[in-house]
Amino acid sequence: MPNLLFVKKSIEQLQAEAAGIGETHTLKRTLGAFNLVLLGIGAIIGAGLFSLTGIAAAHHAGPAVTLSYVLAAIGCAFAALCYAEFASMIPIAGSAYTYSYATMGELIAWIIGWDLVLEYAVGAATVAVSWSRYFSKLLESFGLHLPAVVMMSPFEHQTMPDGTIVHGIINLPAVLVIVIISLLLMRGTRQSASFNAFIVVLKVAVIITFIVLGWGYINPENYVPYIPPNTGVFGEFGWSGIFTGAAIVFFAFIGFDAVSTAAQEARNPQKDMPIGIIGSLAICTVLYVLFSHVLTGLENYKNFAGEAAPVALAISHTPYLWLQQAIIVAILAGYTSVMLVMLLGQSRVFYSVSKDGLLPRVFSEIHPRFRTPWKSNALFAVFVSCLAGFLPITIVGEMTSIGTLFAFILVSLGVMILRYTQPSVPRAFRTPWVPFVPIMGVITCAAMMYSLPWDTWLRLVLWMAVGLAIYFGYSAKRSHLRKAALAQVQ
Ligand code: ALA
Repeated sequence: MPNLLFVKKSIEQLQAEAAGIGETHTLKRTLGAFNLVLLGIGAIIGAGLFSLTGIAAAHHAGPAVTLSYVLAAIGCAFAALCYAEFASMIPIAGSAYTYSYATMGELIAWIIGWDLVLEYAVGAATVAVSWSRYFSKLLESFGLHLPAVVMMSPFEHQTMPDGTIVHGIINLPAVLVIVIISLLLMRGTRQSASFNAFIVVLKVAVIITFIVLGWGYINPENYVPYIPPNTGVFGEFGWSGIFTGAAIVFFAFIGFDAVSTAAQEARNPQKDMPIGIIGSLAICTVLYVLFSHVLTGLENYKNFAGEAAPVALAISHTPYLWLQQAIIVAILAGYTSVMLVMLLGQSRVFYSVSKDGLLPRVFSEIHPRFRTPWKSNALFAVFVSCLAGFLPITIVGEMTSIGTLFAFILVSLGVMILRYTQPSVPRAFRTPWVPFVPIMGVITCAAMMYSLPWDTWLRLVLWMAVGLAIYFGYSAKRSHLRKAALAQVQ
């Protein structure tokens, strides 16, 4: 009896799937390198930059949040180089889940597929919570005030101008935006390359405008001390604070890997996937470091504590108040593309998992007219809107980060394993300096995971325990690959 826990898909089988052999409906290959870079930027720049920078600066790194960004970018670069090798070798929509199926076998693939829910679904919830904050700012600028109880999760409260404390019940705008985007996805309204390009141009233009106009109003006193001394608690300022800050702002880089889920829609994935993944990461790194430098130069980092919209606060130190509304509109549009890509990525990963028999068919059922996994979209609309409506941003943000870091570690390990087990399979893009780069990918991602609070770890362990219970209680018995392997043995 073979050990079926680690049964693997062959590279040949996956490459045939990627080529659409034996399938009547395949995805259309329309995306070139430029569009893939834009897709990456569309998925990357969102709530992390606009909301978590303030949190990381206020509680962990101070103005040295710029260094947190550099550290997080280095960790991501190692992982990005590994993703680039896989995405050019196995250009298929399942991303890290599929790569693991080929390298480490079914159980690890399942763990990754389950873990990616934290990246995509919980990530979308995080962005929705942040979206809601900017949405309320926009309404306020028109004199409209939504009641505070429907703007916060039950774990949050707000002190009103008259001193009364209001506790939240539900974050209604966050719920609504998830439901609306999910409905769009069900209808098959796909993020066309030109729509995405428009949003990306808007987002990047906003960031560059903020950097250029804000630069002249930086108050150098806000940079003193650049690295605030550690308070005696690990992670509260000092170098440990910079590392913890890196683990938090890591969230802002999530999305470059989502480019790999578009591999089946790339015209020339072998050449263009690495450009899309690494190019989008590089551009965003430069923008992030400059942006956080200006943000913490305009306003003292201490004042970002508890501040829902740090960018708006920073802008209030410049004479360009007219920028505030334009920026908020651009942020809202930008967040929308992040949520769209994340929810899309989520449904694609579960589509692949369900196709392999590890999840119920409902996740891969395609609507006859819209050609979307609409039931999956509907289920995730309910799940993600519950998270967004009832949990505060720090909890969901850290869950997303820990889940994604875990995926990056397994992808880095996967590259090393495949170089060893399948050295001769052609690789259009080869990760340089193997095993140094993948090992560094594992170490830096593990260090960022280590810096996350213990309760986030506990939630990860609980989430994985639920995942393993589902695997052994359901998936293992229904796996197509296992059934095929058993049939061969008998
Ligand atoms: N990187 C994405 C964001 O910051 C997830 O919103």
